[in-house]
Amino acid sequence: HGPPRLFTPLTVRDVTLKNRVVVSPMCQHSAEPGGVAGAWHLVHLGKFALGGAGLIFVESTAVEPGARIGIRDVGLWSDAQVAPFKSIVDFVHANGAAIGVQLAHAGRKAGSQALWEGGRALTVEQLRATGEPWRRVGPSAVAAGPEWSVPDALDREGIAEIRRMFAAAAERADRAGFDVLELHFGHGYLVASFLSPHANLRDDAYGGSRENRMRLAIEIARDVRAVWPEGKPLFVRISAVDGTADGWGLDDSVVLARELKAVGVDVIDCSSGGLSDETRNMNVPRGLGFQVPFSERIRREAEVMTQAVGVILDGPQAESILEEGGADLIAVGRQALYDPYWAHHAAHALGYDLGFEGWPVQHGPWLAKRA
Ligand code: FNR
Repeated sequence: HGPPRLFTPLTVRDVTLKNRVVVSPMCQHSAEPGGVAGAWHLVHLGKFALGGAGLIFVESTAVEPGARIGIRDVGLWSDAQVAPFKSIVDFVHANGAAIGVQLAHAGRKAGSQALWEGGRALTVEQLRATGEPWRRVGPSAVAAGPEWSVPDALDREGIAEIRRMFAAAAERADRAGFDVLELHFGHGYLVASFLSPHANLRDDAYGGSRENRMRLAIEIARDVRAVWPEGKPLFVRISAVDGTADGWGLDDSVVLARELKAVGVDVIDCSSGGLSDETRNMNVPRGLGFQVPFSERIRREAEVMTQAVGVILDGPQAESILEEGGADLIAVGRQALYDPYWAHHAAHALGYDLGFEGWPVQHGPWLAKRA
């Protein structure tokens, strides 16, 4: 019998992932000045390549300097940000993994502290004191919660400008050599706020009906697909349910996933929650694989490839998700921080690669000789 499903390659367009293990995007709040990736990012991301993952995502990467999630997030709003990413991409490629970048616009949730500093929204005064062009924008002048300032409602030109920023960042991501692009349409950031009937009170073509609320998501995906090379995969992360009563739900996500697929999106990455302070910890029961049912239903009903994420802890659990048709790819977040060699250890737990052949050549032959 062949390898476990978790270690079966997956080809999406012209990119072949060596296995189904994905490292989920995770904000590091550690960029160099100017939102540039540095040594931290090389080591942080590079270790997952040594650790055997098939695809490694860079954290949420801003398309606009004033729309970062955290004030020390990386970005791709400027050409100066391309070369530092390129050296990380080259290291990851040299060590056998594919690498993607997650493009984001934080919208009305721009400008927050790192968790180790409290994880709170910064005040307008604190943002102004950085001397950088911070701004909070959204579909409507509705704050994300008591700790957030009220965003400016975007006008039509403002929306068009954000579409152009996504496309420009996608072109830079290609120049940096990334294999995969993910658009962050979840967790209450800009596009998620357009999807939500609670955050989006517009009465123009971008608000009201579900079709109108989905318009910005579809337009950005289409714009990006037009500049992102045909052979490279495009993923979209959504909050499959936003965690609010009468808000964005799973039925809506199935419809959105179908439409995203129709404009050339290859994989739907199924997360949840984050629309407001109250849903930051996601009013979804949390437990082993708690978001897998979202991925399973979207995969089956929208007939699109999906990535499952959220409390997926070990190889056997990941393998059974794939076996049961819950997802095509398995993303691991915190458990990869706990164990950067998660993929190699998952293989062993499934009785695979016991000869250490998938490990870095610098290490594998020595490990195979251990008594
Ligand atoms: C995250 N998460 C996250 N999600 C995202 O889409 N973009 C991001 O930049 C971040 N940043 C981030 C930082 C850190 C330190 C953590 C722990 C998480 C969410 C993450 O990708 C993942 O969806 C969740 O952590 C759930 O998966 P796990 O951790 O249970 O495997």
